[in-house]
Amino acid sequence: MSQFVIETQGLSKVYGDLWALKSLDLRVPKNSIFAFLGPNGAGKTTAIKLLLGLTGASEGGGYIFGMDIARQSTEIRGRVGYLAQHAKFYDHMTARETVHCKLDNLGHRSVVLPETALGTNSARADVCRNTLICL
Ligand SMILES: Nc1ncnc2c1ncn2[C@@H]1O[C@H](COP(=O)(O)OP(=O)(O)OP(=O)(O)O)[C@@H](O)[C@H]1O
Ligand SMILES: [Mg+2]
Repeated sequence: MSQFVIETQGLSKVYGDLWALKSLDLRVPKNSIFAFLGPNGAGKTTAIKLLLGLTGASEGGGYIFGMDIARQSTEIRGRVGYLAQHAKFYDHMTARETVHCKLDNLGHRSVVLPETALGTNSARADVCRNTLICL
């Protein structure tokens, strides 16, 4: 495999006539810590969404772990953790159900969860964030 865990070539996203991301050429080496820094609207979130296949590229493409971000996003997401800036949860699921659903998707079958507020919908975002970060 390549010495880079993330590689992009000309990765771009356009909304109408606004280029949210324009021609990103990125190479992140293995065993490194990499941060996206930039002013509001610079395209950081758009770049991450594109890398994880949460939105499609208008131009260009890229690879994570040597896998194509456009065609292999399911496999990529199985190996990548992503905590969204604004997490969204299903209204009809309690915190407990949400955590179990996430764990199931991640392949964890038997996890003991504390009682706390998990049975209610209140504080769902906090409970889910903290639980998922701790796992
Ligand atoms: N779904 C969308 N539809 C239209 N424009 C969008 C959409 N998503 C992002 N944009 C625009 O694309 C540009 C880049 O947005 P993005 O959210 O990637 O920036 P950011 O660097 O993450 O900003 P912030 O620091 O505020 O999180 C902004 O001008 C934003 O308004
Ligand atoms: Mg952002």
